[in-house]
Amino acid sequence: MNKRIAVLPGDGIGPEVIDQALKALDAIGERFGHYFEYCYADVGHVAIEKHGDPLPNSTLHTCMNCDAILFGAIGHPKYNQEPEAELRPEHGLLRLRKSLGLFANIRPVIAFPNLQDLSPLRPEKVEGVDLVIYRELTGGIYFGDRGRTESRAYDTCVYEDFEIERIAQMAFKSAMKRRKKVTVVDKANVLETSRLWRKVVRQVAKEFPEVELDFMFVDSAAVQMIQAPGHFDVILTSNLFGDIISDEASVITGSMGLLPSASKGAETSLFEPIHGSYPQAAGEDIANPMAAILSAALMLDEFGLHEEGNVVLATIRHLLEKGIGTQELNLDNKFSCSQVGDMVAYLIAEKESINITDFKLKEKNSTII
Ligand code: IPM
Ligand code: MN
Repeated sequence: MNKRIAVLPGDGIGPEVIDQALKALDAIGERFGHYFEYCYADVGHVAIEKHGDPLPNSTLHTCMNCDAILFGAIGHPKYNQEPEAELRPEHGLLRLRKSLGLFANIRPVIAFPNLQDLSPLRPEKVEGVDLVIYRELTGGIYFGDRGRTESRAYDTCVYEDFEIERIAQMAFKSAMKRRKKVTVVDKANVLETSRLWRKVVRQVAKEFPEVELDFMFVDSAAVQMIQAPGHFDVILTSNLFGDIISDEASVITGSMGLLPSASKGAETSLFEPIHGSYPQAAGEDIANPMAAILSAALMLDEFGLHEEGNVVLATIRHLLEKGIGTQELNLDNKFSCSQVGDMVAYLIAEKESINITDFKLKEKNSTII
């Protein structure tokens, strides 16, 4: 299979983690006989510096001419002090989502074995957590009418039935392949948009009689996420609630550096690690590349390359089980970002089995286990 991939490394640690994801993709290409062509483009702060625009037209053009997009991270500390800045890296991301019609943001949250101690929750609460969030991404309060005078400001939340329907379809299809449970997170005791969500989702649910559907107010869902996260299977929610609940979900496993995401539309899809640009670590070769590598695995899955995607996931699991990872995971064997990328690529290339017992670091020629 030949695929063109738009590569948008972005800011901070984006470029270094994306490099590792490309090593994994190249190893998959080599092993399974696929060819991936990479088309690089700028986004975020680097794009503001170079082109005066966080999302230059050339970048959008590249994305539209590729089969999928691999995205690193955007953000720079300089903008934190200036919330009113005209040009912000985030604007690039929001415009990218809207222009490409990426209406569904999908974030799987899995508790990996070995890492429960990193969680702020007690290990028995996190063990076995395996949920996925379907967050609507191109509507709601993020894109509604807004305005401001000296003493008054407003943001409006608008949803149309078709925007709810298309993401609900995706969420139910996903539930059919999982534990067959969808929880809609909303605020239907207060918001009219939430009431429309309920009506449309109930309609969609009729097509999936095997799937259990329940509704939860967002405040109560925030509590459940801490008290009993294992209770969730598929969460379906609007843009703003999804932004908040997915960040909350990502920390309960204690390993944000391991969580990938996909943003899907009718025409194309974008894959990105959920961690931010982590500017303090940029260029240090210490960032965890696993979330970026797992984002590449989600991309393979989207291409229909399920075996290939599973090989990448199994490789990451294998490394973690062997106690191998970047320093913040606090495992027995600590490696740099690029070393983890090299190991993943090496293990993918091993056709027989994933066995790193005698894996030797190329540059040092020393046994790591
Ligand atoms: C995310 C981010 C963005 C969002 C920001 C950077 C605009 O927090 O992808 O979750 O709020 O959607
Ligand atoms: Mn967010």
